[in-house]
Amino acid sequence: KIIILDFGSQTTQLIGRRVRELNTYCEIVPYNKFPKDDDSIKGVILSGSPFSVYDDKAFKIALKDIWGKYPILGICYGAQFIASECGGKVEPTATREYGRSKLSWLNSNNLLLEGISQNSQVWMSHGDTITSIPDNFEKIASTEEVDIAAYQVKGESIWAVQFHPEVYHSEDGTQLLKNFVFNICGCHGSWSPASFVEHTVAELKKQLGDDKVVLALSGGVDSSVAAVLLNKAIGKNLTCVFVDHGLLRKDEFKNVLHDYECLGLNVIGVDASKKFYSELAGVTDPEQKRKIIGKGFIDVFDVEAHKIQDVKWLAQGTIYPDVIESLSITGTVIKSHHNVGGLPEKMDLKLCEPLRLLFKDEVRRVGREMGMPEHLIKRHPFPGPGLGVRILGDITPEKVRVLQEADHIFIQGLIDWNLYDTVWQAGVILLPVQSVGVMGDERTYESAVALRAVASTDAMTADWVHLPYEFLAKMSNDIINKVRGVNRVTYDISSKPPATIEWE
Ligand code: XMP
Repeated sequence: KIIILDFGSQTTQLIGRRVRELNTYCEIVPYNKFPKDDDSIKGVILSGSPFSVYDDKAFKIALKDIWGKYPILGICYGAQFIASECGGKVEPTATREYGRSKLSWLNSNNLLLEGISQNSQVWMSHGDTITSIPDNFEKIASTEEVDIAAYQVKGESIWAVQFHPEVYHSEDGTQLLKNFVFNICGCHGSWSPASFVEHTVAELKKQLGDDKVVLALSGGVDSSVAAVLLNKAIGKNLTCVFVDHGLLRKDEFKNVLHDYECLGLNVIGVDASKKFYSELAGVTDPEQKRKIIGKGFIDVFDVEAHKIQDVKWLAQGTIYPDVIESLSITGTVIKSHHNVGGLPEKMDLKLCEPLRLLFKDEVRRVGREMGMPEHLIKRHPFPGPGLGVRILGDITPEKVRVLQEADHIFIQGLIDWNLYDTVWQAGVILLPVQSVGVMGDERTYESAVALRAVASTDAMTADWVHLPYEFLAKMSNDIINKVRGVNRVTYDISSKPPATIEWE
């Protein structure tokens, strides 16, 4: 495996994903937690960082612990760190450099750069630059703006690049990572969904024996794939619980329950919408709404779990991005995310998380391998508190109805216009705004909704999607004509950051 040492960059996870896309196992660990005595490590990547090497707070490691023991690739801060530790010079650039750039020169005979074309586009994101390197370092690439864009330590298996090969805009980024992972580290790229399924099912059988397991299904990809995997391993000893908090999409409870039954899962559907509506009545504060929904969910699930005799395990669809220990740089809570994550503290059960080492795209590949239907696998992410965070202000059953209708038109529209798969996530937000309109000869005074569709790779950052005007026009028309209570449709053109994907 490859170890990625995280120095706090926004793109560290992306490095992990890219290495995994090469069917190579990797782990992301905080910079100061390098795993000791692990002889399966074939190479180490040092990530970028929000800090400068000369900041007091900069994250540092003792390079001698890895130097000469494994091939090393430094990226951005990683490159600056190795250079400055060895006596090179790193200085702030006059202008911070973000975005596209081109390699103006490269040594294509160098192992790391094999197959990379002259003029290849690379992605830069840095405020510092390496202005000189020690004599035993060899420059291997430059851009117009950055002379030392990549280097190798002579005679050592140590390379570094100032640009970000993990970012999709770096044209030959995959080739560069391939060169490092396969040719330099000697990995084989032998991971496959089929081998994962086979291996995990065998492990689960061993781990769980005849024990009973309970799992909360959300309708999303992760919990569904976890359930199908466990079902393969232990069959009827797995009980799945699917809670309707009354904030699901139109007909979602019925449809998803049906899907689960077709997959042969032993699933209990619980309609708890009345409980949630009554607890949420009159509550307008976003965080309080989230807390009520999160706690209500745990209560309902707890009751169901206790009905299962001798249940010993709680299974969850936790995936790798939830597990990676994040370096808290700012420490601010933006939103208290609700997922089944709150359950383990409450319940006295052992935890089973068969997907905890997979990224989302790998989870999808595993789901496909097990024959799950494409519409379940490709579903957009949907927040745990559901439409609760898309109804701004207080929640009433009538507002839920209005939003479900509008959301249904938008999502079905995306499917019909073949746009659904080009979007990471989409939905409608019901705004606490009434405005005047005219329908026929009548004055109306009704709600406004916002459509939201974003492109993203990990929900950490997102951009609004440039949906065709004709499509937006059709959606606006259909929603206003068909959904009683709505007379105005807007389109949200904010990216994340500074906005977030959900409005609450
Ligand atoms: P934001 O709004 O923070 O959302 O940009 C990022 C992603 O997370 C989803 N989301 C949630 N998912 N429980 C979840 O499981 C939650 O409480 C929750 N809140 C937001 C959101 O839909 C987007 O995909």
